[in-house]
Amino acid sequence: MYAQMIKSEATQDDPEKLAAFQARIDAGEKIEPKDWMPEGYRKTLIRQIGQHAHSEIVGQLPEGNWITRAPTLERKAILLAKVQDEAGHGLYLYCAAETLGVSRDEITEMLLDGRMKYSSIFNYPTLNWADIGAVGWLVDGAAIMNQVPLQRTSFGPYSRAMIRICKEESFHQRQGYDAIRKMAEGTPEQKKMAQDALNRLWYPSLMMFGPSDKDSVHSAQSMAWKIKMNTNDELRQKFVDQTVPQAEYLGLTVPDPDLKWNEERGHYDYTDPDWSEFFDVIKGNGPCNVDRLAARNKAWDDGKWVRDGLLAHARKKAARKHAAE
Ligand code: 3HC
Repeated sequence: MYAQMIKSEATQDDPEKLAAFQARIDAGEKIEPKDWMPEGYRKTLIRQIGQHAHSEIVGQLPEGNWITRAPTLERKAILLAKVQDEAGHGLYLYCAAETLGVSRDEITEMLLDGRMKYSSIFNYPTLNWADIGAVGWLVDGAAIMNQVPLQRTSFGPYSRAMIRICKEESFHQRQGYDAIRKMAEGTPEQKKMAQDALNRLWYPSLMMFGPSDKDSVHSAQSMAWKIKMNTNDELRQKFVDQTVPQAEYLGLTVPDPDLKWNEERGHYDYTDPDWSEFFDVIKGNGPCNVDRLAARNKAWDDGKWVRDGLLAHARKKAARKHAAE
């Protein structure tokens, strides 16, 4: 639907302006909020940045679930810091989206009533402490693989937000790897838990990069506009190539019997995720979709009195200022 909307809006743009805009993108210039931009570019950015912001916020839920049950004080402090970082990432991204003329409230409401998406990965549960290690290692590992190139994205506020986010995501990935390493090097039971976490989270992590290139609706236009810097399959392959040796180092087995190094390609050959599961999850039918949206709706409703209070205060202040002028 978005693709159709974007296409029809793009054709309404003045061809000369469009060509000049594309020339700026091709020359590597950053587009800033007050610059002219095609309506499709603006809408695609709101969709992608908004979905990314929602992912950071919803992504706090599976990890927040384990803060009170972390095995040591040190692990608890690390996890707490990480989850707080994710809230910060959501805020930078909502601010970047707001520069495109949409309010944070508007896109939050679109998340809450299901009109906007968040990353599929957060619809899977974290069943035990090994899952928390695996989430840091695999989920933050996949997130950073996608986000490092986005530091060079064409829209200035998004690119600048990504620079800051990537610094923190790299710490997140390392703390996850360290936590799963501890489990993999622990008792046989702990090693079994680490393997089980890898078995369950491997394919959902591969799905984070989006559908295969042949089914990606937005990639071609988004790459021409440098909103995306790589295709979904390119990043997925990079992630597999980086992660398989890490699993080997841990003494864990990636749950893909057909995984093997391909000398000719210089990459691992791997089995694709079950795409019917992916599309089912993004339609709302994953194991935790209902719970995640219920938790965010409850937080939004519970916070209404705070938002109302802040707005009333701001209005009063503005009225006082107006009266004094
Ligand atoms: N989860 C949910 N929906 C997904 C998805 C995923 N993993 N991958 C793709 N989709 C959706 C798209 O949004 C699109 O649906 P829409 O038209 O209704 O919006 C549809 O599937 C088709 O996919 P496309 O490949 O055409 O979509 P994109 O070009 O937008 O590519 C993307 C998808 C690679 C995820 C891209 O949007 C992107 O790079 N986004 C920025 C990064 C991001 O959102 N990351 C979230 C990860 S988690 C995170 O950041 C938290 C961290 O702390 C762990």
